[in-house]
Amino acid sequence: MNGVASNIGAAVIRDLDGTELQSKVAVVTGGSGGLGAAICQRLAQAGASVVVGYNSSKQPAEELAEQLPVVASHGADPHCALAAPVTDSAAMKVLAEQVSERYGRCDILVNCAGTTRYCAHDDLDGLDDELLDRILATNVRGPFAATRAFKTLLQNSTGQSGMASLVVNISSIAAITAMGSNVIYCASKAAVDNMTKSLARALAPQIRVVSVSPGLADTDFVKQMDQSWRDEQAERTPLKRLAAPEEVADAVIASAAYLTFTTGNIIAVDGGRPLS
Ligand SMILES: NC(=O)c1ccc[n+]([C@@H]2O[C@H](COP(=O)([O-])OP(=O)(O)OC[C@H]3O[C@@H](n4cnc5c(N)ncnc54)[C@H](OP(=O)(O)O)[C@@H]3O)[C@@H](O)[C@H]2O)c1
Repeated sequence: MNGVASNIGAAVIRDLDGTELQSKVAVVTGGSGGLGAAICQRLAQAGASVVVGYNSSKQPAEELAEQLPVVASHGADPHCALAAPVTDSAAMKVLAEQVSERYGRCDILVNCAGTTRYCAHDDLDGLDDELLDRILATNVRGPFAATRAFKTLLQNSTGQSGMASLVVNISSIAAITAMGSNVIYCASKAAVDNMTKSLARALAPQIRVVSVSPGLADTDFVKQMDQSWRDEQAERTPLKRLAAPEEVADAVIASAAYLTFTTGNIIAVDGGRPLS
């Protein structure tokens, strides 16, 4: 009983054996960020070759790509870091060409890049147009532009493997709770969830599209918020803690490897936060 009780409140990260996503190629935008790095790590452990997409963090992305696990089923030099500035649609097309040349396929696109800045919801002047446009361009136009750039490659990979390829949009429970770093950030994630459904319908049957919707996860993205606010969020979460980045990553692994009849769904990883 004590053993069971002592596990409550801790994240449980299971072993992967490298067969789950063997021979798959995954591209992760925002790949060296807090959640992105955990997603890249778990995809590599599951056997996928991983492209760590970066915007400003070229060196951290290259270091991460070097350090990602190489499992038995991988060929030599399976991972790499490539520029993936999601607000530059032309650059995203170049990225898709680079991935096509290097790997000849893309099975999984994870749209993880995102931006925000804390601004109280009643401080309408604090949310100036520059910030507002940057959030929408990165969080909404970005995943659309990435999906548009990779559509053909994802469709072709489905033809090669016989299994629908996958787009995962990293959303947020802010989309449904309207609680988050600022009003437009919440709206941007609601737009992402809506886009997930439209694209899932439009791109089926070759491409599945899901949102993975985290509650607060323990990353730098959240560490910029007030400590007292973070503590309060953990306290208000039925599971009484923030998510470990690996728990969010495992929703991506589950979507790719196991939830093969799931598309257009919003997969919450939130400790039950919207319940309270
Ligand atoms: N952490 C949480 O609690 C939480 C909760 C819900 C949802 N989310 C979502 O999870 C995603 C990742 O968040 P995180 O916590 O990992 O944040 P993070 O550590 O701040 O990482 C943000 C990532 O986004 C990338 N990025 C920002 N602007 C970009 C642009 N214009 N083009 C391409 N990449 C860009 C950054 O790349 P560079 O460093 O290369 O510039 C960085 O890798 C975001 O979409 C966020 O909204 C996070």
